[in-house]
Amino acid sequence: MSGASGTFAERLIAWQRRAGRHDLPWQGQRDPYAIWIAEVMLQQTQVTTVIPYYRRFLEHFPCVAALAAAELDQVLELWSGLGYYARARHLHRAAREIMETWGGTFPTRSEDLAQLPGMGRSTAAAVAVFAFGERAAILDGNVKRVLARHLGIEGYPGAPAVERRLWQEAQALLPRRDIEAYTQGLMDLGATVCTRTQPRCAACPVAEDCVARCTGRVDRLPMPRPRRPLPQREVQWLVVLRAEEVLLEKRASLGLWGGLWSFPEAGVDEDPALWCARVLEAQPQALAALEPLTHAFTHFALRIHPRLVRVERVAQQAAQPGRLWLPVPEAAQAAVPAPVRRVLRSIPAI
Ligand code: ADE
Repeated sequence: MSGASGTFAERLIAWQRRAGRHDLPWQGQRDPYAIWIAEVMLQQTQVTTVIPYYRRFLEHFPCVAALAAAELDQVLELWSGLGYYARARHLHRAAREIMETWGGTFPTRSEDLAQLPGMGRSTAAAVAVFAFGERAAILDGNVKRVLARHLGIEGYPGAPAVERRLWQEAQALLPRRDIEAYTQGLMDLGATVCTRTQPRCAACPVAEDCVARCTGRVDRLPMPRPRRPLPQREVQWLVVLRAEEVLLEKRASLGLWGGLWSFPEAGVDEDPALWCARVLEAQPQALAALEPLTHAFTHFALRIHPRLVRVERVAQQAAQPGRLWLPVPEAAQAAVPAPVRRVLRSIPAI
């Protein structure tokens, strides 16, 4: 509510009439079949992509009986390019169900529509609003964003508790009349003004009492899906020092940090003294654990256990291509991954 300028719904309706979309091919008529096809196509696809598919689909299948009589392959062919083909399969099954269970007459109540394959509560509500003027709430991804911002609703909108709250709010905001303009206004606002990035708050009819805008949180609402903790892998890094120099190895060009220089790696359970004997034919003079660190990749986190190993002399084969001894400060300037640089900088003074 906001005193002088009217309710949320009143402002949205006035704005839709003035600045909303009025010439989309599925508008200006009340055929539930045509509206249903449009709403299903628009579930995961933008208006500009949908328009030519919508026209072609309705030319081939102008009514629910025609769609029900078609072969699934024909339907999929016309859908080809729109993606999410389960939508086409569900559409076809729902058309047959309408013919068989409903005697070819479209159900008129959103509750009944929502039982049809592939319909979902929001799509059912949109069809019931535009075809039959039912006072039903929609809540697709765009509307979730609009409401989360306007009402300052925290949490990921896909989380069941947040979604329940959003449905309640969507229901509570419905106007007593002009449900069609209101619903179209919500869709238009989400698609053209209250966009995910760079929303145009200056053009928004309900900006005045938008909680996100008033509290400077437009770019933080709605909140993103919480990230699952990444799976962890562990590795031991052998920070081998000979006098002032440290041993680096060139990493395989394919794989993690391909082509960069890094410390020799070992399994976390491998004994560093035995590793030295096996790989460098050297007896370590001193061993020390350095502070472990974690590096996050896209799909896992690498838990790194660096071990400092001092050696006096190493066998000849320790100086092979792909191995390099560098003074520690120089190594820190080389083409090394960030965590290698961090470890190099943490090496205690000799
Ligand atoms: N997105 C989903 N339904 C829509 C509709 N009827 N008009 C415009 N965009 C939409």
